[in-house]
Amino acid sequence: MAVNFNMGFAISLIFVVVVAGVSVVTAESPKEVIVKTVKGQKVCDQGWECKGLSKYCCNDTISDFFQTYQFEDLFAKRNTPVAHAVGFWDYKSFITAAALFQPLGFGTTGGKSMQMKEVAAFLGHVGAKTSCGYGVATGGPLAWGLCYNKEMSPSQDYCDDFYKYDYPCAPGAQYYGRGAIPIYWNYNYGAVGEGLKEDLLNHPEYIEQNATLAFQAAMWRWMTPVKKGQPSAHDAFVGNWKPTKNDTLAKRVPDLEPL
Ligand SMILES: *[C@@H]1O[C@H](CO)[C@@H](O)[C@H](O)[C@H]1NC(C)=O
Ligand SMILES: *[C@@H]1O[C@H](CO)[C@@H](O)[C@H](O)[C@H]1NC(C)=O
Ligand SMILES: *[C@@H]1O[C@H](CO)[C@@H](O)[C@H](O)[C@H]1NC(C)=O
Repeated sequence: MAVNFNMGFAISLIFVVVVAGVSVVTAESPKEVIVKTVKGQKVCDQGWECKGLSKYCCNDTISDFFQTYQFEDLFAKRNTPVAHAVGFWDYKSFITAAALFQPLGFGTTGGKSMQMKEVAAFLGHVGAKTSCGYGVATGGPLAWGLCYNKEMSPSQDYCDDFYKYDYPCAPGAQYYGRGAIPIYWNYNYGAVGEGLKEDLLNHPEYIEQNATLAFQAAMWRWMTPVKKGQPSAHDAFVGNWKPTKNDTLAKRVPDLEPL
């Protein structure tokens, strides 16, 4: 997707007069924001965190409103001795992963309040899916998010033969739950691997070895519709998706409130 965008941009540059090219420096962190107008639309580039002249990169980036101490507060118990992925997850891997999706609108859509809500909702899902805080755990279950980076005692290898042509299981590979929003089954590893251009079908273990990749897999799932014609979680959340009459009748509505 990013590749197509850049190529499209390069091609349109040949035909379109770039009206403005100015740089501004924000007050808080001295990062350079490149602002241009392409075909009447304002697009920006904020360096490594939001790169590639996208309209989304004209807004704050995630690190402008979500910082290390907030990540530490949110996932306070993840490195306690009883946790199961001590030393694995950190803020840097989250922000590095997010840099891939911020030019596409992840945490950069709709203005500050919606941006914060989307990141909160995403991390809420992450926390809920990776928590080991049950019932009376100190700090409550939420503080125990990111306690796991993989399923602990898988009862099977999650190889579905139905997908043997599209996503054949690699000999010996196990497709148990891994990641920040865990993925299971060969076909999900295959699809996420295509999305991220990583050979996850042959190397599902990459997800439990690399926190950046583990966050990217979760973000890809969040940004990508599960089926054609369906909205992604992101689209539903930020209001890009407009329900049809059938959706409304079936009580499928976009929910802009935090979960
Ligand atoms: C950027 O933020 C503004 C509000 O500050 C919002 O109106 C706009 O829609 C956002 N841009 C995009 C591409 O979502
Ligand atoms: C982890 O994954 C990221 C994102 O795919 C990649 O850029 C990085 O090189 C990987 N790190 C290691 C140690 O393989
Ligand atoms: C809407 O729902 C009706 C009844 O279930 C169905 O027959 C129809 O094909 C649906 N329309 C669309 C556009 O999905």
